[in-house]
Amino acid sequence: MGCGNGAFSQLITEKSAPTFLSGIDPSPEQIEFARERGLGSKAAFDVGDAMSLSFSDDAFDLAVMALVIFFLEDPPKGLSEMIRVVRPGGTVANYIWDTVNKGSPSSLISEHLNDMGYQPDSPPNPQVSEMTTLKHLWNSAGTTEITSLPIIVERSFKNIDECWSISSLFPNIQNIVPNLTNKEIDELKGRLEGSLEVNSAGELTQKATANAIKGIVTEP
Ligand SMILES: C[S@@+](CC[C@H](N)C(=O)[O-])C[C@H]1O[C@@H](n2cnc3c(N)ncnc32)[C@H](O)[C@@H]1O
Repeated sequence: MGCGNGAFSQLITEKSAPTFLSGIDPSPEQIEFARERGLGSKAAFDVGDAMSLSFSDDAFDLAVMALVIFFLEDPPKGLSEMIRVVRPGGTVANYIWDTVNKGSPSSLISEHLNDMGYQPDSPPNPQVSEMTTLKHLWNSAGTTEITSLPIIVERSFKNIDECWSISSLFPNIQNIVPNLTNKEIDELKGRLEGSLEVNSAGELTQKATANAIKGIVTEP
């Protein structure tokens, strides 16, 4: 659900060899890109909305939202749709950047921009990125054998210019970059450099955390 350009879908096909994989996303451009990955006849990508899936009940063994749930207008509705299309005994899973606790890769640059008077967009429902909220959602939806874990990742950059060239591409930051003066860009790069750690190889490093959760679908 929310397969975007198919990056996670490709990982699934490579690591889990599914009998069939179906990816949906509201963006036709992203779906087009996902189709061009050439994942073969066992994968299909279609325009669709996680809040109102076109699949029949019990159609899948597993449904997953990767980095999507906080974009949904009504996250519980998205979860109930995943549950509807998964057979009893199947799995509904999710992982999402923990933006509430500043765990998203874009949290740091967003914070600095805020301090400088800019307001990067945030997703409509950031609160569902927090682990206790996710557990509550999966519990309330009636799934069982719920397991959850934080996924901590670390990225390193050769220098601040490499960090800036990547960080300035986050969708919520990209909108702001054209409004920044060269002086403000230099200030932002200085702030970023000052708040990143340096590893033993002299590279700048940044950690991020995603919260992952899964549960088993029960008989209705
Ligand atoms: C950060 S991308 C994640 C892409 C993909 N899951 C991955 O990790 O490779 C978030 C995606 O959520 C999608 N999205 C937003 N609202 C959605 C909705 N109502 N139903 C399904 N997908 C949605 C966006 O179009 C975008 O492609």
